[in-house]
Amino acid sequence: LNEGYQKTYKKMDELLPTLPRSKGWWFDQLLQYQGFWLSNHGIRGSMLIDDYFNPRPTDIIVATSPKCGTTWLRALVFSIINRNSFDFNNHPLSKANPRDLVHFLEAHIPRRFVYICRDPKDVLVSKWHFANKLRPKELPPLPLEEAFELFSNGVSHYGPFWDHVLGYWKASLEWPKKVLCLKYEDVKKEPSGCVRKVAEFLGVPFSPEEEKKGIVEEIVKLCSFESLSNQDVNKSDTRSRENPMSNSDFFRKGEVGDWVNHLSPQMSEILDKITEQKFQGTGFRF
Ligand code: A3P
Repeated sequence: LNEGYQKTYKKMDELLPTLPRSKGWWFDQLLQYQGFWLSNHGIRGSMLIDDYFNPRPTDIIVATSPKCGTTWLRALVFSIINRNSFDFNNHPLSKANPRDLVHFLEAHIPRRFVYICRDPKDVLVSKWHFANKLRPKELPPLPLEEAFELFSNGVSHYGPFWDHVLGYWKASLEWPKKVLCLKYEDVKKEPSGCVRKVAEFLGVPFSPEEEKKGIVEEIVKLCSFESLSNQDVNKSDTRSRENPMSNSDFFRKGEVGDWVNHLSPQMSEILDKITEQKFQGTGFRF
């Protein structure tokens, strides 16, 4: 590590004990830093970005709140950008999980932000399942009621969830050429239209020849839940001490509206109310 990084680490060591803490979702506690709930790892990434990140004009950032479709959007952007470099039948996405092809910014370090969000009710359910896969065996499963309390109080990774979405939504209105906001539900409903929109936004629109060859549909198929979740690389348990998240953990159902099978009417009502209050007057709707 160079000296500069050491300085940031020292700053972080001094800062961490001073931050408000919450019970975590799995093995880590969440700490409140600049208004958002982050893990130690997230804070370190954020401080390193603040101190050293020099975006290049060609960089692209895929931005999401966890459980909104990060894996899907990574796969889509990767295959749109690299569509002339790889054969769809022998594609890097059949050998690597999307997070190994489009890295976390916190781990490395843009010209444009491609953001995806999702109905908070589905996000909560997805995150609750995810947390229970990740929780160490020594801990009892996280009850849904507890996950609901944490989530609705804003305590989720990179949360409050609503503030995360609002930040990107407002930025997309202010800088429409720099920030594209997608909704999971829209990509589900009209995947081809969304792939065209992302390609156009990234400055690599599909040519009439590509359209004729069905490249858009190839990308949609390659990145679909069925296709990605059935790749051996995503079916195997890749959990290890260093990396407690298995590739398979990122694929569960991939559906819109699974919350109805889990949340009580009261829980859904409370979440909808928070959403309504937070987004009032912003023009944003899930
Ligand atoms: P569910 O738990 O509701 O099934 P993230 O990638 O941001 O962690 O989000 C994970 C959620 O996206 C999970 O939702 C997962 O099943 C879903 N997902 C993963 N890949 C997908 C794909 N290719 N298409 C649609 N949904 C996908």
